[in-house]
Amino acid sequence: WGNAVATKPKVLITRRWPEAVEAKLKETYDVTLNESDVPMTVDEIRQALNDYDAVCPTVSDKVDAAALAVEAPRAKILASYGVGYSHIDTEAAKKAGLVVTNTPEVLSGCTADLAITLMLMAARRAGEGEREVRAGKWTGWRPTHMIGTKVSGGVFGVLGFGRIGREAAKRAHFGFGMKVIYFDAYPVKPELAAETGAEARDSIEAVLAEADVVSLHMPGGKENYHLISTERLKLMKPTAILVNTARGEVVDGVALAAALEAGTIAGAGLDVFEGEPKIVPELLATEKAVLLPHLGSATLATREAMGWRVMDNLEAFFKGETPKDRVA
Ligand code: DGY
Repeated sequence: WGNAVATKPKVLITRRWPEAVEAKLKETYDVTLNESDVPMTVDEIRQALNDYDAVCPTVSDKVDAAALAVEAPRAKILASYGVGYSHIDTEAAKKAGLVVTNTPEVLSGCTADLAITLMLMAARRAGEGEREVRAGKWTGWRPTHMIGTKVSGGVFGVLGFGRIGREAAKRAHFGFGMKVIYFDAYPVKPELAAETGAEARDSIEAVLAEADVVSLHMPGGKENYHLISTERLKLMKPTAILVNTARGEVVDGVALAAALEAGTIAGAGLDVFEGEPKIVPELLATEKAVLLPHLGSATLATREAMGWRVMDNLEAFFKGETPKDRVA
């Protein structure tokens, strides 16, 4: 880092983190917590870059070019709490002289668990059923009531065969006897595909056309904006289920709601939304979508592990080393 500080480095945590991690952070650094636990504004983040040695944002903080429009900021690292970092303009961060880190690996299993939860909920109409019971509208068992889709033994299509996609594939394959197919824009090591006997397909379209369940695991941001569009939804089977635990902007939400209502596909399980926490009214209105409030990594063990990973990155950085999880 070069300019070692005599006193403890000043670190800003933009949201409340699990207690154990906050306590450890306070022992090590001069920590400021955003006690209100609401997302910080772009202006507040810009100011923070001048006031702190490290800023630790989350997925719900927008660290865009405007937030990073600072000349010679005091902060030299954005140690993000989370694996996805499309909320950070990494080019602008680099220009401002900031190192960016994330927290991969520790949340893969937990997020994959939620993808499977969404798959089952959407396929077996669990959200719809629960709403019916709670509304006092259930009239009793009958052979034709709330018929869903059987996913066991079907084809599990993964778009983005990284760590989380592969964990989801393991659960689908070993837990539900599903055949795994995938597309990834980057080469996948054969031994990683072999874990689940996963077969590569040469395009997104090929996976969409063949899969009974399509699970999205690619990064968000401009490059994958509305990758799942009206045209691509039309390629899916009418019985298919779409699961998104990646980033909201990957799916055109209005197009998805229209496809669900038209019967182009059977159901969707969504944990992430473009512009969240706002959700397009069309998705809120359809019974065929299961909607969760971005819970992919939401277990205490995982959220703590994410915190420890941020601490590892900060420690390496303040020692003058390259943090293990440097992404920019
Ligand atoms: C991430 O880490 O990117 C998730 O979306 C939040 O855990």
